[in-house]
Amino acid sequence: MAKLTVEDLPLEGKKVLMRVDFNVPIKDGVVGDDNRIVAALPTIKYVIDHGGRAILFSHLGRIKKEEDKPGLSLRPVAERLSNLLNKPVTFVPVTEGKQLEDAIDNMKNGDVLLVQNTRYEDVKDGEYVKRESGNDPELGKYWASLGDVFVNDAFGTAHRKHASNVGIATNMPGKAAAGYLMEKEIKFLGDAVDNPERPFVAILGGAKVSDKIGVIDNLLDKADKIIIGGGMAYTFYAAKGIKVGNSLVEKDKIDVAKQILDKAGDKLVLPIDNVVADKFNNDADTRVVEGDIDDGWMALDIGPKSVEEFKNVLKDAKTVVWNGPMGVFEMPNFAKGTLEIGKFLGTLTDATTIVGGGDSTAAVKELGVADKLTHISTGGGASLTYLEGNELPGIAAISDK
Ligand code: 3PG
Repeated sequence: MAKLTVEDLPLEGKKVLMRVDFNVPIKDGVVGDDNRIVAALPTIKYVIDHGGRAILFSHLGRIKKEEDKPGLSLRPVAERLSNLLNKPVTFVPVTEGKQLEDAIDNMKNGDVLLVQNTRYEDVKDGEYVKRESGNDPELGKYWASLGDVFVNDAFGTAHRKHASNVGIATNMPGKAAAGYLMEKEIKFLGDAVDNPERPFVAILGGAKVSDKIGVIDNLLDKADKIIIGGGMAYTFYAAKGIKVGNSLVEKDKIDVAKQILDKAGDKLVLPIDNVVADKFNNDADTRVVEGDIDDGWMALDIGPKSVEEFKNVLKDAKTVVWNGPMGVFEMPNFAKGTLEIGKFLGTLTDATTIVGGGDSTAAVKELGVADKLTHISTGGGASLTYLEGNELPGIAAISDK
């Protein structure tokens, strides 16, 4: 890797600033899915096992007003991290000032400290000032002054230009390194997109085509097939003149969809049939239809023939990248297409299989096939930015080797 990695840094006795992505679901003060915390453990353990003092920074949720702060404290994350590491984690409930500086001064080699949610800095005295999210230069400089070296392991945040990733790194030239998770994500996504074993098949889903246009554009030149499912498929239907009934269509994207279809030829694989419903509700009346969708009906999942067709395209693939559900996954009656595709990916043991995005990841976990896949990305927006072929500022700011 062309960037410094954690193994290139001196750690013994050093104050090691670490950016992790602990933006995890929290309900009633308890962490739900802790995948992102678990994924950061190898780097944290490496740092403390080598005598470093790990000072962790992360954002959680989005803070736009004072009232957002109490529900978005990182305290529950410190507790979960402490359980996972099986050692105490000092939680500092502020993001700057004497309390934080004293806590850092009191650390011993091998200690772990978690700083309060970096986005607390986005609201000061009731004003939405975006110091963290806007990469305020003074804030990045201040945080950088608290440590000796910097490790960025927050792949999930790498598409953001924050003070706690880009700001700290630019203030620590030659001392900002990637952690193991960052390295792993770059390796798997990078190899898949730039150097895939072929056939390379991308599966793209989700509600809106507008979220995926950049990815489709970039992958049209790189993938052998692009399977399209989810709500975005129906904007392509509209572009092809197929009736969509009440299905989700982004009218202002029909022209773009037409251009993509022209460019793609037979590379783009659309659903043949769909599960249509008479309302957007799990208990709606449903039927399976091929082609045209009548008025009063909306497509909420791909149908059984589409599932078979998609499996057929996938069966010989050597590289598969999947981002986005095939239907309204959060409603059990319209989750089948997504689950079928997830299950099938679990059988492709000869292929490199990479999954990114919340619903696709939830599907493979629900099915228990996550451990049969090559890599589950911890980045939703970050993995999409990567698949678009765009630079991720968080990665760009890490020091070159
Ligand atoms: C994510 O969950 O995608 C990252 O943590 C970034 O969060 P954000 O979209 O609130 O910036």
